[in-house]
Amino acid sequence: MSPAVYVSRPLPAPGTEPLRAAGLEVEQHAPDSPPTRDELVAGLQGKQALLCLLTERVDAELLDAAPELRIVANLAVGYDNVDVAAAHERGVVVTNTPDVLTDATAELTWALILAAARRVVEGDTLVRTGQWKGWSPTQLLGASLSGKTLGIFGMGKIGAAVARRARGFAMPVIYTNRTRNVVLEEEIGARAVSFDELLEQSDVLTLHAPATEQTRHAFDAAALARLRSSAVFVNTARGPLVDEAALVDALRERRIAAAGLDVFEREPQLAPGLTELENVVLLPHVGSATIDTRAAMVELACRNVIAVLGGHPPVTPVTR
Ligand code: GLV
Repeated sequence: MSPAVYVSRPLPAPGTEPLRAAGLEVEQHAPDSPPTRDELVAGLQGKQALLCLLTERVDAELLDAAPELRIVANLAVGYDNVDVAAAHERGVVVTNTPDVLTDATAELTWALILAAARRVVEGDTLVRTGQWKGWSPTQLLGASLSGKTLGIFGMGKIGAAVARRARGFAMPVIYTNRTRNVVLEEEIGARAVSFDELLEQSDVLTLHAPATEQTRHAFDAAALARLRSSAVFVNTARGPLVDEAALVDALRERRIAAAGLDVFEREPQLAPGLTELENVVLLPHVGSATIDTRAAMVELACRNVIAVLGGHPPVTPVTR
């Protein structure tokens, strides 16, 4: 019998075609919503591979309920939804989709920086609802970017891609990261700073670190209180990096100027009060959502499944 794969959601093109073309059996969760835990466990019976999304929690309990599993291929670069140690203890390979989504996520980060700084959504609403009475010198004044300091929390591949694009906006870059990125420092003059300096010196602060025990609520009420009152705060990384309730307070009390958020602490739920604020732009976790990027992510996840079930090393394994 051919090895079998459980795919937890309908996928954009090329969908499951690469898996089927490789001769694998495929069972797919049909609704465009996450499977329940029971559906996931049932779907995994007799399967050697799981191709899943960041909405699926893959923990020890699930892994124990799927003893034939050999690979969990997560369709995302982040893998905080997967207990990697538990998978490795059981001999299950975990893979993610790095690199292919770096540019798309950096582009969306800039979309949010620009939208939040220049109040793009408020302007759209004004025009669309017929409230615009004509040009006014006092209307919708936002923040200039040119010459302002861009702060980056987490200088991995996506952080670096955001930093490189800052040159086009004439913004000097400061950053914090576990390790210094000397290549980038030489390339664009980025400057490594302490966390406190990052908070105090950033005009625009953007987050690009993974969700871990160490980064959870790194941006709590105390950290947010150190930001400039003119600061623009952007998160396209993971919601749990930020204490969302504290961010709502800071935005409501105008202790920071604006925010652009693509990720939330308890997706798809939002902290109370967030949607009532005008100075925040809210997106539904679409950092990698371009046609080309999603196709590349699906291709890569399928290649990982095909490699491992074929007895070969994975293409993009998660190693820790
Ligand atoms: C999306 O959030 C990803 O981690 O790829």
